This record gives sequence, structure tokens and C-alpha cells, in this order.
Amino acid sequence: MLIKACIFDAYGTLFDVAAAAREAAAEPGRDAFAGVWQKVANDWRLKQLQYTWLRAVADAHTNFWEVTQNGLDWALEASGLQADAELRERLLALYFELSAYPEVPKMLEALKADGFATGILSNGEPRMLAGAVESAGVAGVLDDVLSVQDVGVFKPHAKVYELVGERFGITPEEVLFVSSNGWDACHGAGFGFHSVWVNRAGEPMDRLPWTPAHVLGDLTTIPELAKSL
Ligand code: LAC
Repeated sequence: MLIKACIFDAYGTLFDVAAAAREAAAEPGRDAFAGVWQKVANDWRLKQLQYTWLRAVADAHTNFWEVTQNGLDWALEASGLQADAELRERLLALYFELSAYPEVPKMLEALKADGFATGILSNGEPRMLAGAVESAGVAGVLDDVLSVQDVGVFKPHAKVYELVGERFGITPEEVLFVSSNGWDACHGAGFGFHSVWVNRAGEPMDRLPWTPAHVLGDLTTIPELAKSL
């Protein structure tokens, strides 16, 4: 078997980033938010990512928790909800305990049973990642959780992808890198990983110089794919 480690992006890949807004919208007394939660969730995610890219090119790194809050503040104001401090606090609390996609625990258990190393490689700030890993109950099937915090720049800087080889002592070709973020999967391929794009929403491929070798609809078949390479 060529692949030695299966490494996963966190937000959007293992953890459902829309879950915080969806769950808050279902709570009593949130009628105004219930009508716009999808727009807020989309704006929040897009701005959060844009701020990571802008901070990376401007050499102005901060932690992912700050850009997560900055993105939420932009999104709430865009929907006229900036005065609702209680909603803001609730959404941030829910972001700390995002649900994992339903197939995640079994998929990670199967990889461990087959002898693969497993890990997360994420922009996430270590405390945020620890909260999500704990609430998803997958700490026991992950060998490590790698955060950009250790290199001081966000994805897709190559320094981030280098963390995998440094931690596991393997080459990029021995890594199956899995991300639901098309741009992250493309840059992982550019770095030399066997890269998988999990395209749950049926989006077009990003127009970047590299393309992931594999495109899947969800994570269910990752163990078979890893064994087949
Ligand atoms: C992460 C973001 C990109 O977890 O989803 O790194």
C-alpha cells in the first residue's frame, strides 16, 4: 500500500460548518434569524476564508478564532442582525461544538483498523479543534490534530502542508489528503499529496493550476480508496 496516512481538513470536511447557524435558527425566539440563517451561514464561511487568504498574502497572521469572529460580524451586519449580541454569542458557542458529518466516526474507525495513520490538518485554532473533535467523539481514532498555529500562516501556504511530513515522517505521495474545500484539495495536489475533493454540494472545480486526483460525494469510500492506491 502506497498510502501511509489519511489527513483531513476540518471545517466543512469532517465538521459541518453550517450546523451552528442551522441549530441556532431552530431555537425558540429566533424568528428573524430563521428567515436568513442560510445567507448568514454562507456569508460567515466566505468572509472567514477570505480573511485567512488576505491575512496570508499581507503577512498579517492572527488566530482562526479571530477571523471566525470577524467573518460572523460581517455576516450578521449584512443581514441587519449586528445588534443581536446574544445571537452572536450563541453562534460562536455552537461553532465550538460543530457536529461531524454522519459517516465520519465509522470512516475513521475503518482507517485505523486498516493500519493507516489519521490526522487533521486545519486552519483551526487548537482550542476550537479540540472542542469539535471532542463533541464529535473522534479523538480516539485520530493520531494527531495539526494546526496552522504552529507555522503562523494560513492555508494554502506550503508551510502548512509541510506539517504532515514533519509530524508523520512520510513523503507527500504517501499521504491521502482529503478536503471539502476545492481550493484546499487543489493546493494539496500541487504540494504532491494524493488529493481528494469531497464535493458535497456539486460545485464546479476551482480554476487553479492543480486539480485533485479524486472527487467524491462524501467520505464513506475513503478507506477503500486509501487501500486501492
Ligand atoms: C480548515 C478550513 C480551511 O479546517 O476549513 O483548515
